[in-house]
Amino acid sequence: MLHYLSIKGKQKLKGSVCISGAKNAALPLLAATLLSKNEITLSNIPEVVDVKTLLKLLENLGAKTNLEKNIVTINTVPVKSACANYDIVRKMRASILTLGPLLARFGHCEVSMPGGCAIGQRPIDLHLKALEQMGATIELKQGYVVAKAPDGLKGTTIIFDKVTVTGSENILMAAALAHGVTKLVNVAKEPEVVQLCEFLKEAGVSIDGIGTSNLTIVGSYGELLDLKDIKVIPDRIEAGTYLCAGAITNSKITIVNVIPKHIESITLKLKQMGFNFNINENSITLLPALEIKPSDIETSEYPGFPTDVQAQFMALCTQANGTSIIDEKLFENRFMHVSEMTRMGANIKLKGHSATVEGNMDLIGADVMATDLRASSALVLAALVAKGTTRIHRIYHLDRGYENLEGKFSALGANIERLEE
Ligand code: EPZ
Repeated sequence: MLHYLSIKGKQKLKGSVCISGAKNAALPLLAATLLSKNEITLSNIPEVVDVKTLLKLLENLGAKTNLEKNIVTINTVPVKSACANYDIVRKMRASILTLGPLLARFGHCEVSMPGGCAIGQRPIDLHLKALEQMGATIELKQGYVVAKAPDGLKGTTIIFDKVTVTGSENILMAAALAHGVTKLVNVAKEPEVVQLCEFLKEAGVSIDGIGTSNLTIVGSYGELLDLKDIKVIPDRIEAGTYLCAGAITNSKITIVNVIPKHIESITLKLKQMGFNFNINENSITLLPALEIKPSDIETSEYPGFPTDVQAQFMALCTQANGTSIIDEKLFENRFMHVSEMTRMGANIKLKGHSATVEGNMDLIGADVMATDLRASSALVLAALVAKGTTRIHRIYHLDRGYENLEGKFSALGANIERLEE
């Protein structure tokens, strides 16, 4: 059954919202359980579609899994098959995260090539090149990556030509079981990569340089790991999304269960735009701005401004008192939300990777279409300030990465409901 969100705009927000566990931390952690020699429990798991899709993929491989009340217990000891089939992988490109662990554990695997998606071609060449450097042979057959390393993967030095989050995570998991020492250069430093390092380190894998661009991993020579239970870190992208919701409605709201350090680039940017904060150990209160100032944004790898909050900021910039320039440096097509916002009355000019966003725009509610996960959340923000009612269709994109979105926004006072098409 298809649903849409109906949002009546011009409603101030108030109160506080609990941030869920990070989808982009939960996914690599769940993939890493393929390296485990025992059953383990992962808590603070967001009950979003992408997590459920990966659990289904792991079950198809033979794992025993259970998800309830944000807790996953999983036992991958029974996993015998090393083939991640197309009809699940096509639903979620992060399934590629099973490639590294399956190859390291079984010495062979077949993982469907993830399709591209709305925001870009999303190649995996850097994942494959690194595995080849570790001694694997990689073939592409009928849309599948067929990887072989019958004598195990070998530790070596790998320099990533580009910073890649899931590429770093895949190779990190492969290196944990490799024969010998692997040095990774130019590895991603996102908090989700750091948590994966900590997960492996807790299991006895020696990893140096955690949180830096250079990691040294001593492999277990194929020995499965004694992984320990873990609590998933808060979702910094969801936190940024709700801060933008408070900002665009110029309301005082509090986000709870956050790690302020993980969203420093976002709070700094909002400060430049005239907002202020009360920041505590695991909560942040946004204080309204006297005037919302325009701001230029350039997305970059962590700790820079996250590409996953670019669309949300663009919605906010339509309400700033002036013109803002947004440069999307990571993905070639991450402006799909622009045409939908334009239909709501936004004035945004695109030139290559750069968007010029006129401020002081009075947005008008309209029927709009979600195109990808983060663009969809940006349309929710635009709807909160638009005059009249906005109906957002194809919200299955939203359900991939936001837990109980309409429940959380309703609790903040938004006039939002999920209806059947
Ligand atoms: C991760 O995607 C996130 N997904 C994305 O979040 C996020 O937008 C992205 O990192 C950037 O931060 C997960 O963690 C599951 P990349 P990933 O590999 O790993 C190029 C969301 O909304 N590249 O860091 O796929 C690539 O084309 C999602 O939750 C290669 O050229 O991103 C891009 O331009 C969307 N070759 C850049 O690197 C490769 O082999 C960064 O991509 C790999 C990547």
